[in-house]
Amino acid sequence: MLIRVVFASLLAVVLVSCAAPDEEPEAAAMDSASGKEVFDRLHCGVCHAVSPEGEPSRGPNSGPNLWGVAWDRTEEWMRGHITDPQAASPATTMPDFPLEEDELDALVAWLKSLH
Ligand code: HEC
Repeated sequence: MLIRVVFASLLAVVLVSCAAPDEEPEAAAMDSASGKEVFDRLHCGVCHAVSPEGEPSRGPNSGPNLWGVAWDRTEEWMRGHITDPQAASPATTMPDFPLEEDELDALVAWLKSLH
């Protein structure tokens, strides 16, 4: 009998932890928060403003303000431009950032949240 109760509670725990769909929005929010952390750690902000006021580029070789970048760039395109910017912009001064998949996911999720 006790065994059956223990088994039933274990089953309940497993079922509850499988109820993933409810957790999706929270996971996405965490992604974009840690994306900001990746952006800061890699000093993307040396070249890029992220400002809704439309603050222009910083310095002669610097990149565009990334606020609203997802309005005209797809997620796939952004991923490519971060890992291999020369493929899309041959003359760019932006260096390659060979990121881990999860860091790239978080970074792009954060860039998409800037609007
Ligand atoms: C040394 C300066 C520099 C650094 C550091 C840099 N970038 Fe860039 N970035 C640029 C320049 C310049 C461009 C414009 C490319 C072009 O010529 O079209 C650009 C373009 C981009 C674009 C495309 C914007 C668009 O819509 O055209 C994205 C997205 C981007 N950078 C993200 C990042 C991220 C994320 C980081 C940090 C991991 C980063 N950049 C670090 C210089 C830089």
